[in-house]
Amino acid sequence: LTCERYGLRRLPFSRLSRADVAFFEGLMPGRARTDPEELRAFNVDWLKAARGCSELLLKPKTAAEVSRVLRYCHERNLAVSPQGGNTGLVGGSVPVFDEIILSTALMSEIISFDPVSGILVCQAGCVLEKLNEYLGERGFVMPLDLGAKGSCHIGGNVATNAGGLRLLRYGSLRGTVLGLEVVLADGTVLDCLASLRKDNTGYDLKQLFIGSEGTLGVITAVSILCPQKPKAVNLAFLGCQDFSRVQETFTTCRAMLGEILSAYEFMDEKCMELVVKHLGLSNPLRGSPFYVLIETSGSDSTHDEEKLNSFLEQATTSGLVTDGTVAALWSLRERITEALTHDGCVYKYDISLPVGKLYDLVTDMRARLGHSAKNVVGYGHVGDGNLHLNITAESYSHSLLDAIEPFVYEWTARYNGSISAEHGLGFKKKQFIQYSKPREAIFLMQRFKAMLDPKGILNPYKTLPSSP
Ligand code: FAD
Ligand code: MLT
Ligand code: ZN
Repeated sequence: LTCERYGLRRLPFSRLSRADVAFFEGLMPGRARTDPEELRAFNVDWLKAARGCSELLLKPKTAAEVSRVLRYCHERNLAVSPQGGNTGLVGGSVPVFDEIILSTALMSEIISFDPVSGILVCQAGCVLEKLNEYLGERGFVMPLDLGAKGSCHIGGNVATNAGGLRLLRYGSLRGTVLGLEVVLADGTVLDCLASLRKDNTGYDLKQLFIGSEGTLGVITAVSILCPQKPKAVNLAFLGCQDFSRVQETFTTCRAMLGEILSAYEFMDEKCMELVVKHLGLSNPLRGSPFYVLIETSGSDSTHDEEKLNSFLEQATTSGLVTDGTVAALWSLRERITEALTHDGCVYKYDISLPVGKLYDLVTDMRARLGHSAKNVVGYGHVGDGNLHLNITAESYSHSLLDAIEPFVYEWTARYNGSISAEHGLGFKKKQFIQYSKPREAIFLMQRFKAMLDPKGILNPYKTLPSSP
């Protein structure tokens, strides 16, 4: 094993020994995997940009097993990289060196669902789409939805504080997650799996683990408040001539659709070109520089459709309205991420900004990079002030990266934006945290980390900047 990767030195964790492997095999027979072929997929991230060289994959089934694993790793000073569905986009879900991969793949039990309160309690490895199907049969939905739903785990969603396509309507996981069960670095099981809407007894510890990206503890179970499944879902797909029209339409939309508005997503024409070119999808509305996807979720389809139609008249823009079963429209937006990976090497940015400034970053970046980039595209969650700026090139180029960073972060900081709106910092962005957080806040985060994980075995090299 190399002791340097990405210009980083391996921290002095113990090396995995035969005795360690024997211990884990004894603890979970058949679920401590060492076959390099099998480990390959777990060592590389979804974007195929981050790659580790772990020699051990553990697949616990219970919190008690996770606890025994961590207690042992803590005593032995073995580093661990927690992994859910491995769809994270910042290199946080795979080891950097030889960290043991702790996967939640076999922790997929639904523990309880209360159809009166809508509270679901489940293990961390439940796949988001499966949960949504389970709830759908009972008249409920998950409060979050995202393009990776077929693979991502609810534990991974909570660990990254994923936003996604429904945040506009149901709010962030910081509000909908009611409780968590977490195993700390030394194996302590923290049972904060409350199923209460209201609970002001002391500090709200679960918030510390939401968005902590596997650096403070391993989430083993989640209690989450799920809304009723809307009876009627309608979609409108619009073309807009410029970004100010995208914004104006959003304002009109909020005013006219009010409580039934459930998503307001945008993509520029370059994104449309890519989903058409690389995925063979068809563009239902040609010739617009910007496209907007609006979803309403309500209880009366005809009423919602009427509302949407009168909104469209007011918005004076070209568009089409259809009922929400037309999944093809959602595919245009949801599959941009996939289309980009077919376009070449992807430089991915996930920025929060005041809505008025959202697209200026794309325009400025396009002008700055000129022909050195293949495509510079913008899409995202307008309703949440969240831009996804993506740049593609035929192959990785250090000089292109230097032209993008730190410019993109300086630009964002100038407008008091966030350099990571919803994807987290992971491995790729941890050194840039100071663009969005003051020194004092970073210092306090480091103290929390030191208190909860004094040996630093949980997801090392991630989220917090390395000490100078
Ligand atoms: P992983 O990728 O396995 O892990 C992500 C991080 O969480 C890692 O740091 C890992 O160590 C940690 N982790 C995982 N499980 C646990 C656990 N049980 N306990 C502690 N730590 C854990 N994100 C959005 O916010 N909004 C989107 O709309 C969105 N769309 C996406 C679309 C696509 C096509 C893809 C590929 C990704 C998208 N993502 C989006 C990014 C990603 O954050 C989410 O897919 C998801 O939240 C990650 O869940 P996962 O189970 O795959 O976690
Ligand atoms: C999205 O909104 O599509 C996701 O966050 C993924 C991405 O940024 O590509
Ligand atoms: Zn997103």
